[in-house]
Amino acid sequence: MFKALIINQAEDNSISANVEEVSEDQLPQDGEVDISVEYSTVNYKDGLCLNGLGRLVKTYPHVPGVDFAGSVITSSDDRYKPGDKVIMHGWRGGEIRWGGYATRANEKADWLTPLPKGLSSFEAMCLGTAGFTAMLAIKRLEDDGMSPESGEILVTGAGGGVGSVATILLASKGYKVAAMTGRAEVADYLIGLGASRIVTREEMLNDPGKVLESSIWGGCIDSVGGALMGRILKQLNYGAGLASLGNAAGVELSGNIMPFLLRGVNVFGIDSVACPMEKRAEIWQALAVEMPKSSISQMVKEIGLAELPAYGKQILEGQVRGRIVVDVNK
Ligand SMILES: NC(=O)c1ccc[n+]([C@@H]2O[C@H](COP(=O)([O-])OP(=O)(O)OC[C@H]3O[C@@H](n4cnc5c(N)ncnc54)[C@H](OP(=O)(O)O)[C@@H]3O)[C@@H](O)[C@H]2O)c1
Repeated sequence: MFKALIINQAEDNSISANVEEVSEDQLPQDGEVDISVEYSTVNYKDGLCLNGLGRLVKTYPHVPGVDFAGSVITSSDDRYKPGDKVIMHGWRGGEIRWGGYATRANEKADWLTPLPKGLSSFEAMCLGTAGFTAMLAIKRLEDDGMSPESGEILVTGAGGGVGSVATILLASKGYKVAAMTGRAEVADYLIGLGASRIVTREEMLNDPGKVLESSIWGGCIDSVGGALMGRILKQLNYGAGLASLGNAAGVELSGNIMPFLLRGVNVFGIDSVACPMEKRAEIWQALAVEMPKSSISQMVKEIGLAELPAYGKQILEGQVRGRIVVDVNK
């Protein structure tokens, strides 16, 4: 038997979530590797799955949890042996297949990333999909030439998971970070993570409607999308880039093309789910080396499986600060 948070959908489409003891033969065996899960996390997508939204989960009963870290129990693939520490995220785990909100998981060896030296399972999940995506976005902009000399970097949705890790990483690399938030109460927290100033969501939404505005930003990590993204493009410095990775404010893209034509700005799409394995290993290695470990505790709250339904709601309401790590054995 193992422990799991099982979600079910009733005939009226309502969702129930309960921690249950599950027999091992119920665990879908799609892969070659059996894993003892140690930690998982709560991402925005987990909030959708926990609440039956976004058409992400196709069949019930289901175990959500888009990312987890743990150790290999058995493997019929030569790349892994018992005791190896691994990270799983993306490939639609926790959505169309059972995920990390359980003490056991079964995965294809092709989808696993070995835990890099210098990170514990706990630290890897403090970062999780959010931290991975933040680093992927920063590296993409740096590949395009972004550096601390490019000017101030705007991080939107800064109080959330991706935004918090992006703020820490950029500040530790010597960037000046302007943290955009809609919550006055997280301002001190963001300054503590390394932001040099706070930009309110309200002031950014107050768009004067110009074709171009004064250039301010040397780059942008955007978790939010929607109408705001169009405005940010109008404020980017000449040749600067915006990494578009999230849709917390919506999926529309508004604005005009003059920032592209007159300032040569660029938008880079960032996807963690199907990111190729070679790139994954590179990004996790960079996190192991570049993430200041002392900052991790500032942005993390640890919970157990039973608390997941409550946090699944909070994250959809934009009320989670930083990262939520799930100790699945708690
Ligand atoms: N592309 C990928 O592979 C990938 C990977 C991970 C996440 N994502 C996406 O990235 C986004 C952030 O993920 P996350 O895990 O960091 O979620 P999160 O912890 O919930 O953070 C999102 C933050 O966005 C801000 N926000 C919420 N509603 C907003 C609104 N209506 N208008 C403007 N800002 C709003 C809030 O920050 P403030 O209160 O500080 O403003 C919130 O904390 C999500 O859309 C998620 O789906 C994409």
